[in-house]
Amino acid sequence: MRKIYVFDTTLRDGEQSPGVNLNTREKVEIALQLEKLKIDRMEAGFPAASPGDLAAVNAVARAVKDVTVIGLSRSRENDIDAVREALQGAQDPCIHVFLATSPIHRKFKLRMEKQQVLETAQASIRYAKKYFSKVEFSLEDAGRTELDFMAEVVGMAVREGANVVNIPDTVGYLNPSEYGAIFKYLKENVPDIEKVQLSAHCHNDLGMATANTLAAILNGADQIEGTINGIGERAGNTAIEEIAMALATREEFFEAKTGLVLTEIARTSRLVSKLTGMVVPGNKAIVGANAFAHESGIHQDGMLKEKTTYEIMTPESIGLKESKLVLGKHSGRHAFREKLLDLGYELSEEQVNDAFAKFKVLADKKKEVSDEDLLALLEEKLIDTPEVFKLETIFVAYGNESTPTARVRIATADQTIEEEAEGNGSVDAIYNAIDKVTGEEVTLADYSIKSVTHGKDAQGEVHVVLSQNDVAAQGRGLSTDILEASARAYVDAVNVLIEKRKTFSRRERATL
Ligand code: KIV
Ligand code: ZN
Repeated sequence: MRKIYVFDTTLRDGEQSPGVNLNTREKVEIALQLEKLKIDRMEAGFPAASPGDLAAVNAVARAVKDVTVIGLSRSRENDIDAVREALQGAQDPCIHVFLATSPIHRKFKLRMEKQQVLETAQASIRYAKKYFSKVEFSLEDAGRTELDFMAEVVGMAVREGANVVNIPDTVGYLNPSEYGAIFKYLKENVPDIEKVQLSAHCHNDLGMATANTLAAILNGADQIEGTINGIGERAGNTAIEEIAMALATREEFFEAKTGLVLTEIARTSRLVSKLTGMVVPGNKAIVGANAFAHESGIHQDGMLKEKTTYEIMTPESIGLKESKLVLGKHSGRHAFREKLLDLGYELSEEQVNDAFAKFKVLADKKKEVSDEDLLALLEEKLIDTPEVFKLETIFVAYGNESTPTARVRIATADQTIEEEAEGNGSVDAIYNAIDKVTGEEVTLADYSIKSVTHGKDAQGEVHVVLSQNDVAAQGRGLSTDILEASARAYVDAVNVLIEKRKTFSRRERATL
């Protein structure tokens, strides 16, 4: 069976999703989970973009062991040097250099003739090869590049010793037969093409990223690039979980498979959604909440008689487990630890104690604590920004004919402060009261809420993005009460903001 290598770019192209801004700790956390999923290669960021990106790539490079870590670079020596610095300490470093090749990009963005593009790309691969044994070269906007020029650039990359050549459909323009045909053409027309791995990188502007990527596999692509949950620029990138499950479910058709641990898919998806704040739509293939739900009577009848009538893959195959051990307020530490192991969490004694204390608080509010409750609680717990402000209590007075008022009590290192404020709604009143305590001038750039579990006593998770000058910070809050979750998310974001301000005075994003 042919192996398809998986190149994950959740931390780079995925992080380029509007509104997403992962800090170093969050990137490392996702990277460690991607390692459990057994991604072959991970692109950790674009080090030349900012000192923060460089530091985050370095932290990822040092944290993971069994995966190739990649840094992105434009075709410039300075960018390549930034990747060299960022990948220090990586077990298996690789650089990803790119240059646009399409007529539109050549004319309007690069203002270069074909020959200049060829020479610039050649010089950068040569420079990168001096320092890296593994080099990937991408022809940005390959999808709209003339086939003969594409073959010329790919041939040059092969001769210069690139290990992987990537053919991105940067703007999601192509359809599957066109994209597949490019791989066939390159295989048939570029001398020594077998010396490199060909890679597919698709964007989803017309909803064809997965289909295009599969077409590339059928036409000889060795590697696929994508993100978890399909997040990414504009309409996003190819969703890795969709490719992995398409290959696994239709193995006899594709005769190719990835090396992913498929049962880690659900957990990876949840973590990426939580940390990026990008909610997975219910009907999203593979990882949407409804992907394995059967609503109509006819379907339910079929499922009860024989699951395969309407189920082409099982929820268990992506790591969604039916709970055997139900936890509640009478459950002890032993059952709790067993449950954590069952869910795949091997925590230290201190982490178990911490999580157990939170579980007890939750169990007091809910009759039954479900697996989803626990996962939400655990994933929430793993992010530990220093708590400059710690929410102790909130009180809200709301009536549809009066002005909402909120009172909050917040602890700092040396005192406890109580403030009260009014607002246009309950959440606004809470946020005004918190602002009075923290004294921070922030703008609420985004607010979203979702239910992470089922039933009337479900836990709500609030995600907020705050901005202050150039710095943006995300915060999350989890509670069975949505006002409390809103307050927690806001305080969390203020703490993240303070931490970020300390670390990087300014985040300067270079434009790709
Ligand atoms: O979509 C694209 O072309 C990219 C390149 C940087 C590889 O993300
Ligand atoms: Zn891309």
